[in-house]
Amino acid sequence: MKDIIVAIDGYSSCGKSTLARALAAKYHYAYVDSGAMYRAVTLYFLNNDVDWANENQVLQALDHISISFKFNPETDTNETYLNGLNVEYAIRDMRVSAKVSEVSKIKAVRVALVQFQQDMGEHRGIVMDGRDIGTVVFPDAELKLFMTADIAIRVQRRYQELLAKGESITIEQVTENLRHRDQIDTTREESPLRQAKDALVLDNTNFTQEEQLALASKWVEERIAAKQQEIEW
Ligand code: DC
Repeated sequence: MKDIIVAIDGYSSCGKSTLARALAAKYHYAYVDSGAMYRAVTLYFLNNDVDWANENQVLQALDHISISFKFNPETDTNETYLNGLNVEYAIRDMRVSAKVSEVSKIKAVRVALVQFQQDMGEHRGIVMDGRDIGTVVFPDAELKLFMTADIAIRVQRRYQELLAKGESITIEQVTENLRHRDQIDTTREESPLRQAKDALVLDNTNFTQEEQLALASKWVEERIAAKQQEIEW
């Protein structure tokens, strides 16, 4: 079987990582959550009082940041490590969510993380989700998905996720955070969230997880077959 790259982009809380994780498990591909990297950098900046309006401070801080992922069989996920410490939980809290879009606007941060992401996809066989994966990180990905869903559904999913983690938060705060992130992610100068020309749109407002996986799997298998044929010719 030929290995391909699956690039998944879309708005916050559209279910990108749920789909990406399921596809990676099904095809034995690596799953990389690029948002976790931007979150880890944001956590480092917050914890170390880095003034991210100051370019020198940003460059110096980036030199001291090392991000890695390690599979945890207990949670069945790839967990994020920042300088050797497990930060999987810390990077998902509202303190980081409130600032991550600001940090991801910074060019030096994007340059460093895009390089790291491209290195991870060098051998293909990878599913990566984010905002610029099909447009900037892997413009030659064999399959690009652009995911979307109604804002009310996205807010509900995110709210339930945070409640389950024990965060005390209101629906209004979650709505505000998602709208704010969508606004920054789509209007920033550096690699704004855009649908790649050759991306397939997946609106999962009315889909179950199983339905969305079935549809995406069909597309993955078509692309793998096409790649196989290219090679045989
Ligand atoms: O996918 P997420 O919500 O965990 O991502 C957190 C933030 O990181 C999101 O608001 C925008 C940013 N991001 C980005 O700019 N580019 C990516 N490839 C992934 C995430």
